[in-house]
Amino acid sequence: MNEADLRARVISVFNLVAAGYDNPALRFFPFCADRLVRHINPMPGSKLLDVATGTGVVALAAAQAVGEQGRVMAIDLAESMLDRLQEKVVKFGVQNIDLHVMDVSSLEFRRDYFDYVVCSFGIFLLPDMAAGLQEWVRVLKPGGRIMFTAFGTRAFQPMMERLLVRLENHGFMSADDKAAMASNRLAEPGRCRELLLQAGLGEIEVTTEQAGYHLKDETQWWDVLWHSGMRGRLEKIPPATRGDFMNGHLAETQPLATEKGLWLDVETHFAAGTKP
Ligand SMILES: C[S@@+](CC[C@H](N)C(=O)[O-])C[C@H]1O[C@@H](n2cnc3c(N)ncnc32)[C@H](O)[C@@H]1O
Repeated sequence: MNEADLRARVISVFNLVAAGYDNPALRFFPFCADRLVRHINPMPGSKLLDVATGTGVVALAAAQAVGEQGRVMAIDLAESMLDRLQEKVVKFGVQNIDLHVMDVSSLEFRRDYFDYVVCSFGIFLLPDMAAGLQEWVRVLKPGGRIMFTAFGTRAFQPMMERLLVRLENHGFMSADDKAAMASNRLAEPGRCRELLLQAGLGEIEVTTEQAGYHLKDETQWWDVLWHSGMRGRLEKIPPATRGDFMNGHLAETQPLATEKGLWLDVETHFAAGTKP
């Protein structure tokens, strides 16, 4: 798939999931956003860019941290995701977030402008991650810090592997597609470090944390899939047979639950570097 097609696919999938994206089953997104902001600990009064903001979980946490004298710029390509953020901005009366539709690989900001650039669970969706990161470095002030998050190898297992095998067995995914899953691209912490090093950043830190929790049952696992980027794959299943596919997958997932519910592993890398 070429870059334009990939971009169009990202826009269409995230516009589709926007309405359900803040579903409680996907609460790892706001949990990780809070952790990311705690890690980067932005100075009050600073300027922070949240790339691939989605429904703005990081932008909202960061807006609180930078305070009234600070400013958060929240950008994304999927307008329906930004609409959800706009609703929250109005509802909570937040005064210091600006929203823009923008490709994170081609930023319309001048160089050396932001004190921080952050991206939660978005960098692995870029066709060229190194070029994207280079662009973030361009708009960052010398001494400014970048932080991104990425899923680790254990994230969403063992359910995800069972789903992918099922998709492959039913002809909805090739073995190559499976190997090239976007979220796998930075699953090894060493890859995150390498990317930061290649971008010329210093003071590199990559820490891995568990942000998981128990889902009530396997139907909440389906919520995680249906309201996230995985929706693109599930849409390939014809609607007439999707229910059977789902029931088959949930039947193989259900035995994994304990009396506490179904464990959702969200192994997450927090990767950061400073512009010299
Ligand atoms: C998994 S969501 C993460 C959203 C948010 N950061 C969070 O943690 O909840 C990924 C987001 O990246 C956005 N995205 C992907 N590629 C993009 C690009 N090239 N430019 C701007 N946004 C992009 C998608 O539209 C989507 O909203």
